Formats: sequence, C-alpha cells, structure tokens
Amino acid sequence: MAKNVVVVGAQWGDEGKGKIVDWLTEQVAGVVRFNGGHNAGHTLVINGQKTILRLIPSGIMHATSTCYLGNGVVFCPEAFFREVDELIQIGVPNVEQRLRVSLNASLIMPYHVALDKAREAAAGKNKIGTTGRGIGPAYEDKVARRTVRVADLFNPERFEERVREAMKYHNFVLKEYLKAEPLDVDAVVAEVLGYAERLKPMVCDVTEILNERINAGDQFLFEGAQGSMLDIDHGTYPYVTSSNTVAGAACAGAGVGPDRLNYVLGITKAYCTRVGEGPFPTELHCAMGEHLRDKGNEYGAVTGRPRRCGWFDGAALRRAVQINGLTGLAIMKLDVLDGMETIKLGIGYKFKGEFIQSMPSGAADVAECEAVYEEFPGWEGTTYGVKRWEDLPETAQKYLQRLSEVAGCPIAVVSTGPDRDQTILYTNPFA
Ligand code: GDP
Ligand code: IMO
Ligand code: MG
Repeated sequence: MAKNVVVVGAQWGDEGKGKIVDWLTEQVAGVVRFNGGHNAGHTLVINGQKTILRLIPSGIMHATSTCYLGNGVVFCPEAFFREVDELIQIGVPNVEQRLRVSLNASLIMPYHVALDKAREAAAGKNKIGTTGRGIGPAYEDKVARRTVRVADLFNPERFEERVREAMKYHNFVLKEYLKAEPLDVDAVVAEVLGYAERLKPMVCDVTEILNERINAGDQFLFEGAQGSMLDIDHGTYPYVTSSNTVAGAACAGAGVGPDRLNYVLGITKAYCTRVGEGPFPTELHCAMGEHLRDKGNEYGAVTGRPRRCGWFDGAALRRAVQINGLTGLAIMKLDVLDGMETIKLGIGYKFKGEFIQSMPSGAADVAECEAVYEEFPGWEGTTYGVKRWEDLPETAQKYLQRLSEVAGCPIAVVSTGPDRDQTILYTNPFA
C-alpha cells in the first residue's frame, strides 16, 4: 500500500532534513514543502557535490520527481527564481517543468523584509536573531488578512489595490515607529508583478493535485522546514519562527487530511545546535562547544552565522516526539562525535526543584531548566561513512540505543556523513 511520510526537524532546525529528504526521494512521486520560506537552508551532498536549497523541496535533484510548494509556505518570487536559476546553471534537468506552486501561498513582499530587518535592529539585545528574510511579517499579514497571495499576481488590479492598502500601513510603521526608510509603492508593485509571467506555468491548485495523485496510489514526502523547538506554538516562544513546524502543519500547509499521512520521521543530530537567540539548556560554552562547531562545520546554510552547539537534549526530543507524533528517528552526524573521550547525553532537566523528562514550552520556563546528563565513553576509530548498523562500534550503538530510549522513539536511520549514501537504514519509513 502507498505511504506518505512527513519529515520534520526534532530540534532547533538544521538537523539534516535536506539530506534525508533527498535520500528518500527515490521512493516517492513527489516532495511537498508545507511551511516556512527561504529562511530554511537544506543541504544536499551528492557524490561530493554540495547544493543548498532554501525554498525548493529537497527532491529536485532526482530528475523525475515533482516538487510542490504548498499553501502554508511564504513565497518570495525573487528568492524562488534565484534558486531556480542556480539549479538550472548546475545542470539539474527540467527544473521549471517539475515545480508546482500553490495559488494560495502568501507572498513575501519587499516591505516584509524591510520590516523584519528594521525591527531586529530596533530590538537591540532583545532581538530574536531572525534570518532577516521577512518571514515573520509575511505570516503576520497572512493572519491579518491583508496579504497578497500567489493567485493575486494574475489579477494585477486587485494586486495593486491590496499592496497599496497594505503599504499605507507598513510604510507608516517603517517611517514613524521604526525610523527606517519607507518603500516606494510603484516600484514594489512593478517589481513583484514582473515575476508573474515566468511563474504562471508553475502555479496550480496543489491541494487538488496532491489529493488526486494520492488517491491514484502515488507516494509523497512532506518536507518540514525549521524544527520543533522553533514552532510558533510549541517552541521556545518568542524565540521561534512564525509558522507551525510540527508534522500536523503538513495537513494544513498542503491541504491533505491527517488520514493521508502514514509515518512521521523526526530528524535529530546526535548532539544539538541552535542558531539565533533563545534558551538552549544543553549548550556548551567551552572548548567542547567549539570542537563540535569545527568538526560538524556548524555554520548556518542561509546566513553563515556560527551555530551554538551542545550535547544531545533528551528532554527536547521527548517533547518533539509528543508534538509531532514521531514514528521513527533519523539520527544525524554521528561521525562528528568520533574521537571523543566521553560523550554526554541530556536525559531531562532540573526545573523548579524537580526532575522533568520533557521540555516545557515557552522561553521563560526553558531558560530555568538545568540539563541533567548521563555520561558515555567515546569510541575508537571512525564511524564516518559507515553504511551498516553492525559496522558501528559497540559503544556507538549503545549511545544511540540509549538516545532513542530517552527520546521515547525507535531509530529508523543513522547518518554518518553529509553525502547521500553515507547513511544506515535501520527501518524503512515506506516499508
Ligand atoms: P537542514 O536544514 O535540516 O536540512 O540541515 P542543514 O543542511 O541546514 O544542516 C545540516 C548540515 O549537516 C549540512 O551541512 C549537511 O551537509 C551536514 N550533514 C548532514 N548529515 C550529516 C552527517 O551525518 N555527518 C556530517 N558530518 N554532516 C552531515
Ligand atoms: P532549516 O529549515 C535553523 C531561526 C532563526 C531565528 C528564528 C526566527 O534550515 O532547519 P525567522 O527568520 O524564521 O523569523 O527566524 O528561527 N530559524 C532557523 N534556525 N534552521 C532553520 O531552518 C531556521 N529557520 C529559522 O535563526 O532564531
Ligand atoms: Mg538548515
């Protein structure tokens, strides 16, 4: 029977979702993005060649897969075509013919970017540390019912009318409240409408197509962006992104019913990272943190910012298992722990004088949590590129088994290097 699998980040993003989606794509007809925008940076390495995708689903490197951007995505035409052109330039076949963009996706407009940047600058030490891509302001406009959507690009009069109305408000805020430069309405309208013609052949009712194809027996992958602890409701609010990043968002963000989703694969590193501000209970402020950053090459794929690094956080993962209904875990970057004398594994927190096993929600409570660890011996030799569970050192197997036990979720995949094939398949999510 056909199966549909959702892939979500189980930590603070950058877990390795892109690698796993690319690797699983050979088993599906298509890949669907359902949340976020080009704040995501998903890295694929195929035979040593690296590609970073931001808005385009990580199935695009497979020549026969169709890639969908659902209604839950915030869509920046300029960023989209920059990425399309990059892919065409490196020789990816039929890129434009294989992309489908939802009529109902909200647009990221130039004023959203200006607002995002001006607000972060004005917030000073209270900043969120956003990616500066206009994500938050675009989702705000969507919920405020004042946004323009992809469909509006094909009704220029309505588009212009709505943009003029929205910009009265946003330019006032930019100039009077944030003391930033307002934007020229005519220039914004002309710039964004300029993408309509090239976009038109890709635009469609994604919901209708997906439901029909699922009915006909095709399998799909739903590719989450960001991570569970960055979810607008369940994460370390307000240090979060502006969309739901949990698996349930795949339904609302693509227009498919929950009964269509059969397996939720949670992606986690064998340690933990975070980029941007906000609490991070297992963060390492010492040489070990720097070692993880160097060895794991932990620099943001979108902004180049150094990622904060720390030990694996079992309490955060336990929470991620609950809020996503994770069926299995893909544990990434095991090789980064090679050569360590001891490895620590967060098994819970001390919180208000008690031991808790699952992360509370909201930054204020998480900031009060003190991580509780178990210590493990490291292993000799390297796990880099290992492709079979039996070939992992026994101490590494024990560490992974304990990690899975603490999280409360079985292992499906282990990753031992950035390349597509440096992967151990434990249980196939599509089986
Ligand atoms: P995403 O946003 O979840 O897709 O993850 P990113 O692409 O932002 O960050 C993950 C990084 O880790 C990328 O640079 C990947 O190439 C890299 N990576 C993924 N899996 C592994 C692994 O098993 N080992 C190592 N060393 N690197 C990995
Ligand atoms: P992928 O899909 C890691 C973080 C930002 C900031 C917060 C809000 O590659 O895992 P935003 O621009 O979304 O308003 O920023 O969320 N953030 C991410 N961190 N990976 C991501 O995406 C992220 N997308 C946003 O750093 O802390
Ligand atoms: Mg990333």
